Amino acid sequence: MAKIIIDPVTRIEGHLKIEAVVEGKEVKEAKSSGTLFRGIELILRDRDPRDAQRITQRICGVCPTSHSMAAALSLDSAFEVDDKIPDNGRIIRNLILGAAHVADHILHFYHLAALDYVDVARIAEYEGDIPALSSIRNFIKRGKLEPFVPRYEGDYRLSHKVNEQATAHYVQAFDMRRKGQEMLSIFGGKMPHNVGIIPGGVTSIPTVDKITSFLWRLKEIQNFVDNVYIPDVLAIAQAYPDYFGVGSGCRNLLSYGAYELDGKEPDLIKRKRLFKSGTTSASLNFTKLKPQRVAEEVKHSWYADSISQRHPSQGDVILDEKKDGAYSWIKSPRYEGKVHEAGPLARLMVTYASGKPEVRSLVDSSLAELKLGTDNMFSVLGRHLARALETKLIADCMANWLLELKPNEPAYTSYELPQEAMGMGLTEAARGALGHWINIKEGKIANYQVITPTSWNASPRDDREQLGPIEQAITGTKIKDEANPFEIVRIVRSFDPCLACAVHLISPKGNDLGAYRIY
Ligand code: NI
Repeated sequence: MAKIIIDPVTRIEGHLKIEAVVEGKEVKEAKSSGTLFRGIELILRDRDPRDAQRITQRICGVCPTSHSMAAALSLDSAFEVDDKIPDNGRIIRNLILGAAHVADHILHFYHLAALDYVDVARIAEYEGDIPALSSIRNFIKRGKLEPFVPRYEGDYRLSHKVNEQATAHYVQAFDMRRKGQEMLSIFGGKMPHNVGIIPGGVTSIPTVDKITSFLWRLKEIQNFVDNVYIPDVLAIAQAYPDYFGVGSGCRNLLSYGAYELDGKEPDLIKRKRLFKSGTTSASLNFTKLKPQRVAEEVKHSWYADSISQRHPSQGDVILDEKKDGAYSWIKSPRYEGKVHEAGPLARLMVTYASGKPEVRSLVDSSLAELKLGTDNMFSVLGRHLARALETKLIADCMANWLLELKPNEPAYTSYELPQEAMGMGLTEAARGALGHWINIKEGKIANYQVITPTSWNASPRDDREQLGPIEQAITGTKIKDEANPFEIVRIVRSFDPCLACAVHLISPKGNDLGAYRIY
C-alpha cells in the first residue's frame, strides 16, 4: 500500500491537496482538501448591500466576472428589478460574462491542462519551421525548461508535428486571452474586477464604436476556437482515447444555467437562458432545478456541525478547526442530498438533455467524429471536449447578441434600496454553477452566502460519507508509478478547480500534510 500526497496540485487556481491510497496499482481511497479558509461572507456582514457587488469579485482574480454577475442577479432580485433590466443591460452583461468565459477556457486548456499531454521539452528534438517557437526552442536547448518543469512525466503520445503545433498554440493562446480580456473591458471597464455589471443593469451604454471594437476581437477568437482550439482538443482526444474512460466521477450533473435570453421573467429558473438550469445523469434525463433543494454539509469540513445541511439562504460560517474527521475548508454542497458535478460538462449535457437542438447537434457531431457515445462525456477528455464546444457556442452567440444591441439607448434601471429583503443570484462561472444568496435587514447585509463551483467539485465527504466529485473521479484509477502519479493530476485538472473561489485566507498550522511537492 502506498499513500500519494499531491500538495498543492499545480496548474490549477489555488491550493488543493489530494491524498490517494494506492493498493495493487489502483487508487482505493481518495481525499480532496481545500487547505485555505475563505471568510468573505463574514467581511460582508453589516455592510451596504451594494458593496456585495464590489467585494465578492475580490474572492478571486480569475473568476471575478462570474461573481459580479451572481451578485448583480442576487441584488436585482432583492431590489425587485430582476424583470426590469433593459435589453441593452441584459445583453451587455452576457457579453462581459461571455468574454470572461471564453478567455478562461482558452487559459485552462492551453496554459494549465494541455501540458499534461503536450511535451514542450521535446520541441528541441525536432527542427520545425514555426518562427514563434525559435526562442522557446533555444531556451530548451540550453537546458532552461522552466516554467514547464518540474512536472510529473506523462506518457506523451503526440507526434512531433502535432506536439510542435500545440506548443505554438500555447504561445498564440496568450494573445487570444488578452483579446478576450480587452473585449470584457470594452463594456466592463477593466479586468479583473469589472465595474460594468451593477444591480439594475450595466454602467455603460452601447455605441457603434464599442460594438465594432468588440466584434473584430471576437472574430479573431471565433477563428481561433474553430481552427485551433477545437482541432487541438480533437487531436489530443485521438491520441488519448483511453481518457474518455478515465475519471468519470459521480455522473450526476448540475447546472444553474446562464446567459439571459429574456429579461422579463423574474424567476431565474423559468427564465430563457442559453444554458439551461437543471440536472441530469448518465441516463440523460433532464430535471428542472429546484434551488431550495441545495444544502451544504460540513461533517468533514472545519466548521461547526450545528450549521450542517442548511440551505444557503440560512447558511453560516462557524469555524471548528480542531474537529475530528474534518480535512477541508470546503463545505460539501449537495443537491437533494446527492453528489453533483458542476462545470462545462454539466452545462453542456444538462442543456443537451433538455433537448436544445444546436447543443445536441454540436455534441453528437463531435462524438460521431471520435466514434464515441454520450457516456464517454463523463470522463477526463469529455470535460475538455465540453469546455471547447461550449467556448464555440458562447463565442458564436456573442456575435449575434452584439447585433441585438440598440446603440445609445439605456442599459440601466434605477431601484429603491429595501430595508428588508432576500435575494438569490444563480449563474455559471467558467468552472460551473455559482450561487449568491443575500439577506438584507435594516438596510444592511444580515447574511451573505456564496457557493462556488469548486465547492461542488472539490468537496470532501458529506454527512452520509458520500465522496465529493473529484474524490469519486480519482477512486479506482490505475496508477503506473506511485512516484509519478500523472493520472491523478490529469483527472483533477479536467475539472478546472479554482480553490481561491472555494476557500480564502490562510489555514492554521498543525495538520501533518507531508512534504510539499510542487509539480
Ligand atoms: Ni475563482
